Amino acid sequence: MSATDRDPIRLIVNGDRVDVCGVSPQTTLLEWLRGPRQLTGTKEGCAEGDCGACTVVVAESRGDGTLVWKPVNACLKLLPSLDGKAVFTIESLAGPGGALHPVQRAMVDCHGSQCGYCTPGMTMSLFALTKTARQPTRAEIDDALSGNLCRCTGYRPIVDAARLACAGDAEAGDTGWRGPGVAADGSRIVSTDEERIAAQLAALARAATFEYEGAGQRWIAPVDADGLAAACAAHPQARIVAGATDVGLWITKQHRDLGTLISTAGVRELAAIRRDADATTIGAAATLEDACAALDDDYPELRESWRRFASLPIRGAGTLGGNVANASPIGDSMPALIALSARVILRRESRVRSLPLEDYYLGYQKTAREDGEFVAAVVVPRRPANLVLRAYKVSKRRDQDISSVYAAFALVVENGIVRRARIGCGGVAPTPSRAGAAEVALAGRPWTEATAQAAASALEGAYTPIDDLRASAAYRRRVLGNLMRRCWLETGASAAAGARVPTRVDACAGD
Ligand SMILES: Cc1cc2nc3c(=O)[nH]c(=O)nc-3n(C[C@H](O)[C@H](O)[C@H](O)COP(=O)(O)OP(=O)(O)OC[C@H]3O[C@@H](n4cnc5c(N)ncnc54)[C@H](O)[C@@H]3O)c2cc1C
Ligand code: FES
Ligand code: FES
Repeated sequence: MSATDRDPIRLIVNGDRVDVCGVSPQTTLLEWLRGPRQLTGTKEGCAEGDCGACTVVVAESRGDGTLVWKPVNACLKLLPSLDGKAVFTIESLAGPGGALHPVQRAMVDCHGSQCGYCTPGMTMSLFALTKTARQPTRAEIDDALSGNLCRCTGYRPIVDAARLACAGDAEAGDTGWRGPGVAADGSRIVSTDEERIAAQLAALARAATFEYEGAGQRWIAPVDADGLAAACAAHPQARIVAGATDVGLWITKQHRDLGTLISTAGVRELAAIRRDADATTIGAAATLEDACAALDDDYPELRESWRRFASLPIRGAGTLGGNVANASPIGDSMPALIALSARVILRRESRVRSLPLEDYYLGYQKTAREDGEFVAAVVVPRRPANLVLRAYKVSKRRDQDISSVYAAFALVVENGIVRRARIGCGGVAPTPSRAGAAEVALAGRPWTEATAQAAASALEGAYTPIDDLRASAAYRRRVLGNLMRRCWLETGASAAAGARVPTRVDACAGD
């Protein structure tokens, strides 16, 4: 059955089914919660995904009766993208008579709150953590809180609260299902309330394109790739939206009217990730978290820069396709993908084409994508033998910051000779780019300090970056060359000796 324009957005809010009509599809979840729903426990700080004051938890069905729970920045989430999902705000946690939920109790007992402005968001991030972790490590707790800023308490008491909350007895919470979703033996607990939510969500599942219209604006959410191709062909000027972690800012910060929006978020084929003998194919709507996990076995060297890619809620909402398609010169995935010879798959109606990723970028925010065409997938070759790989993100702040410079080096070194070199760079040109001159300085040469030095000089001379608030042009050039030198220092000795080159993860573990 095909849905109609009059279809409301159907979602679950704190356990209750809600149908929404009449609001613009550009309305953010935060605006709607705090406005029409009067759920003002969820706060607004930055309205750009940085502070976490607006964090809520969203449960989605896996389709097998179990749920995925994710912390979400309500300030960036567009309301129609919640169709078929369950939203939980801070108001949902308290039990009968206002009894504190175990996560709230832990925040109180550990003195995790002072002025309280960040507290609802922190608490919801911890609530999401309790759904996935029983005894989280410090690194896991840090990651869970990576999208939440607190200006007064300091993080130690909040980290203590995380440990206490996760260690709680799953079903000892005042309201049953709200306790941790993971048992002591690591198995998932599906409580009766979770079963109820899963059943509620099953009733909202859509089998055909969801079309919504509100305040004169249109939202089209196909469920499969053919539906997406048809929607893009019918509305070639429409704005495609995936996780809205870039698009959301155009609404909250630039107040842009985006016209018709076509969502890729529910398109089955685009969320899929497939691993074959020669390549991993990552659907354009796969989240950054899922994409990172899919590449981790082949390329553990990328782990650290993935972790420094925004925060957990942004990586859980944002997609690899969105990062690639957005064509920002400082996007973090593209330099590494270019170094790894990734290709981008584009589809327009029934025509499918594949381009080397570097050829997708034509100029500042200008790409080879035609009207009516969409990014279907990114294809990353499996790890070649004798690969030496390094990827470096350089930013003013270590975590939650945009890159000033990003460089990725992928060298195939056999018997001490660089057989193949690919270098991807970001932050130094109007587009993410491949550093051909420096690759020439490496290919066919012995992998020695002199070769690395020659490549570093070629890299420094290859670009005329801009001065901006993140870095001066001179700094960017110098850093680029130094990253080449660093790659040599970290890998040269082992690669030249034919030994296994440690990944940076190994190196950290040995520190
Ligand atoms: C707080 C914060 C921190 C961030 N930190 C980083 C960071 O560290 N590094 C970094 O690189 N980025 C960062 N970003 C940017 C953003 O999260 C990423 O670019 C993300 O991958 C975008 O994915 P999305 O699904 O949200 O894209 P959207 O916002 O939905 O879309 C982005 C663009 O891609 C287009 N698009 C999306 N999917 C398709 C498709 N299938 N076909 C054609 N066009 C498509 C859209 O039309 C739009 O132009 C950050 C953003 C925020 C808000
Ligand atoms: S209000 Fe700051 S992340 Fe949403
Ligand atoms: S308690 Fe004041 S911002 Fe965190």
